[in-house]
Amino acid sequence: MNDDRPGNRNSDSGCTGPCGHASGLAIKRRRLLQIGLGSAALPFLASSWGAALTAAGERPELGFKPLPASTDDLLHVADGCTLQLLYAWGDPVSAGPAFRADAGNSAAEQAEQAGMHHDGMHFFPMPVDGSPSSTRGLLCVNHEYTDEGLLHPEGAADRGHARTLKSQNAHGVSVIEIELAAQADGPRWRVVRPSPYARRITARTPMRIDGPAAGAAAMCTRDDRRGNVVFGTLANCAMGATPWGTYLTCEENFDAYFNGLPQPTPAQKRYGIRQRTAGYRWHEHDSRFDVASEPNEPNRFGWVVEIDPWNPASVPVKHTALGRCKHEGATVTLSGDGRVVVYMGDDEQFEYLYKYVSRDPYDAGRPAGRDRLLSVGTLHVARFDGDGRGRWLALSHGQNGLDAGAGFADQADILIRTRAAADLVGATKMDRPEWIAVHPQTGEVYCTLTGNSRRLTADAANPRPANVFGHIIRWREQGGDAAATSFDWDIFVLAGDAQDADPARRGNIRGDDFACPDGLLFDRRGRLWIQTDVPGSLLERGARARLGNNQMLVADVVSGEIRRFLTGPKGCEITGLCATPDGRNLFVNIQHPGEVAAGCSQPGGPLVGSAWPANQFSEVTGGRPRSATVVIRRQDGGVVGG
Ligand code: FEO
Ligand code: CA
Ligand code: CA
Repeated sequence: MNDDRPGNRNSDSGCTGPCGHASGLAIKRRRLLQIGLGSAALPFLASSWGAALTAAGERPELGFKPLPASTDDLLHVADGCTLQLLYAWGDPVSAGPAFRADAGNSAAEQAEQAGMHHDGMHFFPMPVDGSPSSTRGLLCVNHEYTDEGLLHPEGAADRGHARTLKSQNAHGVSVIEIELAAQADGPRWRVVRPSPYARRITARTPMRIDGPAAGAAAMCTRDDRRGNVVFGTLANCAMGATPWGTYLTCEENFDAYFNGLPQPTPAQKRYGIRQRTAGYRWHEHDSRFDVASEPNEPNRFGWVVEIDPWNPASVPVKHTALGRCKHEGATVTLSGDGRVVVYMGDDEQFEYLYKYVSRDPYDAGRPAGRDRLLSVGTLHVARFDGDGRGRWLALSHGQNGLDAGAGFADQADILIRTRAAADLVGATKMDRPEWIAVHPQTGEVYCTLTGNSRRLTADAANPRPANVFGHIIRWREQGGDAAATSFDWDIFVLAGDAQDADPARRGNIRGDDFACPDGLLFDRRGRLWIQTDVPGSLLERGARARLGNNQMLVADVVSGEIRRFLTGPKGCEITGLCATPDGRNLFVNIQHPGEVAAGCSQPGGPLVGSAWPANQFSEVTGGRPRSATVVIRRQDGGVVGG
């Protein structure tokens, strides 16, 4: 989602799934390289930014001809690649039920089908003979939000209880089993149906709350007097994956689901909880979304949620130790001594970048204690100084002025009001931090800042007022250790249109122009994949008029060259990206094709904005534009993008 309006300020870790039992530092380092995690534990291989060779001694290259910008209603990908549609809104996760083109599926049926608006996702390879498979695995897919105009036959005009239930069931996460199967016309991916792993997690699924804020008075409600159980996850934007094979899904714009008070408290205001007369209106049928009835329920959203995709009976866990904000993603790496480090952006104008460091190290050979790694640790927030240095400031009770005298009763209070704590310690207000990616060889960290039209005053890390194009910042932790408390930083690229009459809007891209970077992923060879999210209402208009539809590009971070690899259909956002371990299969999500300016389509004319994907893939049921996962492969079977 990209909502840059005032008042609505809104990795491939390549984990191998269930982990092996390596032990010892040397083995641990080798394993980190194998699973694509934790290169921050290694010394830098070169002194300049991004200047690293792959483990095999190669320089990653951009091996394709760039695409032109597009404005049509089709998905285009670089020459030599094939496209396949895998999993669209309404497709069954397992053996049924089938999608109905008139949006006539019931709420119960929606709970067994793909949700709407696919976002972050991760491929967990099935272990085969002790090695991660590149032809079979589990795919976890976030369903960030809904277009109520497309979700129901009567659209948003439907005020019934069933509408709320269906809407809640269209949120959350899918876990599907997928495999590459031989077909007469070549190998094709398919969803395994039925599958014992298949699962939908929705805005109604029971989950556990853990960490320092579990059980706090501010987390208790009428239905949960102990403050440690909550129903559902929502606004699931980007994600992360742990070395122990679990999926992290992140709650971003949770405020939109609550009807707040006419006079919100300062704590509610800080997260955008306010009175609403339009939108989801869940509170009309589910009183926990009415703040007047259940004042603490909003405190139970805005967290990072851990899901074990390998155990369909497992209860997801909301980890309060990682702080409460509009979480974009949770990118996991390891420190030099094996502690778990999680980088996280809070995607709203003038919000912050966070880093969590676990107290204990991860040990692949010791499952015991793993459940504490995301529960006991230190949350930090970033301050970018003008001299190219930066500090990670601890958000710990009793440190950096965070004490009772400053209005923070305890650590739970700091975590529930993470933004207020970050304000107090003097963190740097950023231009909407989105995805974060760690270079697999150098450990350098890159973060998309998608833009900030409300910025009046530039600073070193956010150098353009009225930043409508966005930029990508990067940093190098002190000593190459992800757990360090200081870092060096610079700006990798300022996005823009090289032909803009205003020099401040031309950016400094060496290659193809783009705006509003959002999704970000390093592949194993160190190529940086960039996905864009210009809001549907602003595509082909104003400053971004020449850039066409949203797109995906690839950067060579050594030379700085950026090439356009993919362009999307009309009105869509390109978001969600992961690959099989061999790099030969790339999964990409196309979100909200045909998005209308108001964000809510009209059921009488659902195809006004886009007819994708049925206009491109004849095997797909149409009737509505549908967010979907696609698979990209090279015709010659090689590594995609290489
Ligand atoms: Fe859901 Fe910040 O994108
Ligand atoms: Ca976005
Ligand atoms: Ca995003």
